[in-house]
Amino acid sequence: MAVNLSTNYLGLALAHPFMVGASPLADHLDTVKRLEDGGAAAIVLHSLFEEQISLAESGRIHQMDPFETQFAEALSGFPLPERYALSPEAYLEHLRQVKAAVRIPVIASLNGMTDEPWLNFATSIQQAGADALELNMYEVATEPGQSAAAIEKRMRDVVVQLKRQLTIPIAVKLSPFFTAFGDVAHQLEAAGADGLVLFNRFYQPDIDIATMIAIPRLELSTNAELLLRLRWVAILHTRLRCSLAITGGVAAPGDGIKALLAGAHAVQMVSAILRHGPAYFTAMRDGLVHWMESKELSSIDEVRGRVVGQAGDSILERANYIRTLQSWRDKS
Ligand SMILES: Cc1cc2nc3c(=O)[nH]c(=O)nc-3n(C[C@H](O)[C@H](O)[C@H](O)COP(=O)(O)O)c2cc1C
Repeated sequence: MAVNLSTNYLGLALAHPFMVGASPLADHLDTVKRLEDGGAAAIVLHSLFEEQISLAESGRIHQMDPFETQFAEALSGFPLPERYALSPEAYLEHLRQVKAAVRIPVIASLNGMTDEPWLNFATSIQQAGADALELNMYEVATEPGQSAAAIEKRMRDVVVQLKRQLTIPIAVKLSPFFTAFGDVAHQLEAAGADGLVLFNRFYQPDIDIATMIAIPRLELSTNAELLLRLRWVAILHTRLRCSLAITGGVAAPGDGIKALLAGAHAVQMVSAILRHGPAYFTAMRDGLVHWMESKELSSIDEVRGRVVGQAGDSILERANYIRTLQSWRDKS
C-alpha cells in the first residue's frame, strides 16, 4: 500500500511531519547535513535573542544602558555578549550557509517579547534566505501591575509588525501559561500568525543546597510532557486555520503518531535526536509508515485530528476531569 506522508506546515511543503526543533543541533554544517541525510523534513535554527540584537545595535537591552548603575543588577543576569553562540551578523551568515547546504526548509528563530527596533532584524533574516521565521515569546511575567491583557496585546503587536515587514510565514512558539489559552491562540492567528508551536518547555532553576545558589537546569524531555501538548492541539485544530506544531515530549514514533492524531501539522524534535542521533528521523518516518499501513490509512490528512473522544469544549473538559479522577477511585 502506497503511503503519502507529505504535509503542509506554514505553507511549506514537507516530505513528512517530523522536523528538527530550535536547538544547537543545527549549529554546525556537518550536523545539518547529517540531519537532512538522517531524514529530517525541516530544520529550525537555534534562537537569536532580542537582547543580543538590541545590545549589538544600540548597546542597550530594553532601553537599559549597561553603564547606568541603576540597571547593573538587572543586566548582570544576562550572559556576556561573547557567551552567546552567534552574534546577529554571524547568525545571518550561518543561516545563508545552512540554506546553501540543504534542500529541506530552514526556519530561523527569534526570541523576544517587545515591538521595539530589534524586530527589524527579521527583515535581514528573510533576506538571508530563511523559509520561515519562528518567534519564541518566552516571558515569565512577574511584575505586579503588568496585566495579562497588556502582555497579550504586546504579543499581538509584535506579530502584526512582523507580518507588515515580512513575506515569509511566521510561527509563534508559546508557553502554556495563560489564563485563556484558546483566546490567546485565536488572537495571534487573527494578528497574522501562520502557525503556533506548542509548547515552550519551562526551564526552572533548581537550588543547590550546598552553595545556596539557584542553578540553571536543562534536562532533556520525556514523553510525560506530551499530554499537555496533545490536549491543546486537539482542542485548537478544529478552531484555528493556522498550522500547529507540537514541540516537547515526542520521544518515539508512537508519540509522533499521537501528535498527528491530535491534529498537528508538524512535529518538532530535539531531546530524542540528541539522545539517538539524526538517523532517528528515519525511524520516526518508518514507524509512521508501518502504523499507517496497519490502519489502512494512506495520507497524513487521513491521520491528522482523527482521534475520537477528544475534549473539545469546556463542558467536555470538566467531564473528562471528573472521569479521570474517578478512574483512580474505581481502581482501588
Ligand atoms: C539544548 C537545547 C537548546 C535549545 N535551544 C532553543 C532555542 O534556541 N530556541 C528555542 O525556541 N527553543 C530551544 N530549545 C527548546 C526546543 O526547541 C524544544 O522546544 C524543547 O526541547 C522541547 O522539545 P523536545 O522534547 O523534543 O526536546 C532548546 C532545547 C534544548 C534541549
